[in-house]
Amino acid sequence: MKPLTPLANPVLAGKKALVVGIANEYSIAYGCASAFRRLGAELGVTYLNAKAKPFVEPLAKALDASLCLPLNVEQAGELEAVFDAVRQTWGRLDILVHSIAFAPMEDLQGGLLDCSAEGFKRAMDVSVHSFVRMAKLAAPLMSDGGTMFAMSYHGATKVVPNYNVMGPVKAALEAACRYLAYELGPQGIRVHPISPGPLKTRAASGLKDFDLLLNEAVNRAPVGELVDIDDVGFACAYLATPYARRLTGQTLYVDGGVNIMA
Ligand SMILES: NC(=O)c1ccc[n+]([C@@H]2O[C@H](COP(=O)([O-])OP(=O)(O)OC[C@H]3O[C@@H](n4cnc5c(N)ncnc54)[C@H](O)[C@@H]3O)[C@@H](O)[C@H]2O)c1
Repeated sequence: MKPLTPLANPVLAGKKALVVGIANEYSIAYGCASAFRRLGAELGVTYLNAKAKPFVEPLAKALDASLCLPLNVEQAGELEAVFDAVRQTWGRLDILVHSIAFAPMEDLQGGLLDCSAEGFKRAMDVSVHSFVRMAKLAAPLMSDGGTMFAMSYHGATKVVPNYNVMGPVKAALEAACRYLAYELGPQGIRVHPISPGPLKTRAASGLKDFDLLLNEAVNRAPVGELVDIDDVGFACAYLATPYARRLTGQTLYVDGGVNIMA
């Protein structure tokens, strides 16, 4: 775990950020939480269940998180309980990060044609609809405006071999972000899909031949390097500042430029 170096004039000082999706220190959500904290924000984080708690709690502590709550979006009432706690603790919210995705292993590892109806439904519910539900609960708390993020991937717009059902799922997530950006724009709330390049995380380990994807990314990236979770976190942090106040809805690629290549 990297030490947190305080900045003299942190650009997110006073901001309240809820970050959903930390499983461990390799999680993209952890990169976001850590960047926000280093830039002065106060944090709320969640963990999936009792099994995940011992891995997430020490990270929450290291980040001085004000809230560390259980959240499985498939469990009725847990999402509402998290936002109740946010309301009681802070009375408002400035930043929301949705960094979760799921598809049953057998559906993820087979082609789209072979994906079961149930697997497709669960993947869409956990990876997309949960963001819409979060946005609905978060928006009333963003009384001074705010920024919402959801993690997508290049497989949303281009065919990435082995990404399978997650391609259509991420395409739906990006479209959901655009429609939420449209509906929430009048309240000063901006919504961004973020599209990180491949990162070695637990979720990624469920994809077949993921190491090939990493090699290909580093070979094709104009910057010649893979991205890390801090890169994703600081890109989100920038979008959460007033410097990005007229930006909303579009997907930001944090991939070293891989997406521009033919
Ligand atoms: N790793 C990559 O290469 C990569 C690239 C682009 C986008 N993404 C996306 O980034 C996001 C975060 O993934 P990651 O790579 O950091 O992996 P990760 O395994 O660290 O994070 C995935 C998180 O999803 C959570 N989750 C799964 N089902 C859930 C449920 N029912 N309720 C609540 N939380 C649930 C897990 O607990 C975990 O914290 C995902 O949306 C993923 O698709 C990952």
